[in-house]
Amino acid sequence: MSDFKLADRLSTLPPYLFAAIDKAKAEVAAQGMDIISLGIGDPDLPTPDFIIDALHVAAKKPRNHQYPSYVGMLAYRQAVADWYKERFTVDLDVTTEIVSLIGSKEGIAHFPLAYTNPGDLALIATPNYPVYGIATNFAGGEIEYLPLLEENDFLVDLDAVSNDTWAKAKMIFVCYPNNPTAACATRKFYDRLIEKAKEFNVIVVSDAAYTEIYYDPENKPISILECEGAKDVAIEFHSLSKTYNMTGWRIGMAVGNSNLIAGLGKIKENMDSGIFQAVQEAGIAALKEGEPYAERFRAVYKERRDVVSAALSKVGIQHRVPDASFYIWCHTPKGYTSSEFVTNVLKQTGVVLTPGPGFGTPGEGYFRISLTVNNERLEEAVSRISNL
Ligand code: MLT
Repeated sequence: MSDFKLADRLSTLPPYLFAAIDKAKAEVAAQGMDIISLGIGDPDLPTPDFIIDALHVAAKKPRNHQYPSYVGMLAYRQAVADWYKERFTVDLDVTTEIVSLIGSKEGIAHFPLAYTNPGDLALIATPNYPVYGIATNFAGGEIEYLPLLEENDFLVDLDAVSNDTWAKAKMIFVCYPNNPTAACATRKFYDRLIEKAKEFNVIVVSDAAYTEIYYDPENKPISILECEGAKDVAIEFHSLSKTYNMTGWRIGMAVGNSNLIAGLGKIKENMDSGIFQAVQEAGIAALKEGEPYAERFRAVYKERRDVVSAALSKVGIQHRVPDASFYIWCHTPKGYTSSEFVTNVLKQTGVVLTPGPGFGTPGEGYFRISLTVNNERLEEAVSRISNL
């Protein structure tokens, strides 16, 4: 038997958070336990039929069976530009400021390869989507984590970062509406971030995948690109996954600074061959006609949020009622670490939660609930937890 040694970048890497959760879930399911999965943020609601119909039509076009364009079909990039204009009043140049992605995870994972030399420093606001750190490590970069604290409403304390650190940094990763805490960025926060990034020549990587899951139409989450000067320093990653229930379709986009888009595009040309064009045509339909459906999904999540929040309050679990995203960030009950609590809950009740530290050290003392099952199952889950 050959002995193939894994590369160091993999042999030192802990299991991917959601793969580890899947494994633990499968072990408990194998014992015959009824599982309620509130772990990964994977919408249970189906993709709207009109998007599936668009895929059917597009899948029959022979042109779509050939290699797609590397940067994405012009019509797809135009639909992204129109959507950004309509939703955020942001103008994007379709030829230089947009690249299609095989889901925003793919773009985020590839981006550091374009701008990180071994030893370059990335600042990562944490708790965070694990891919920012993994991708930085794969590119040989160093990481300094910037804690997101409840007392700062989970916004990065930009002025607490020393000038020395800013000067060393190559890029900073932020995510708002935040995964996992569900906090939203203010315009003032983004303005200051852009100011700092300009002063120290730091790339701002904004993960905006959750902007369309909001609960107050008068107070919608913003894109960093709405703020003056953002295009000088920022690239924003977005996705159709969460907005239109399309996680399995793998379609997203990166938009913003044209040099950063070109750098990412160059990595992608060498690593992948773009998105199946039939999926892009379905994506165009989603971006053009999906808003009434997105509104309905928001109403569903709002009801779920309220059901879970009431149930958690009733059983004394402190939590943050989210203004956006389909996550609820909860305090772990006293007497448990996050991991002990989540493991006990899974083994004894079959309810899958995500432990806060899975997103980084400041996540200790928290766990995350994903509102991706129906009200009845959500109530059942909280009731099982409370009987622990
Ligand atoms: C999650 O936090 O549940 C993830 O963001 C899922 C994903 O990869 O989109």
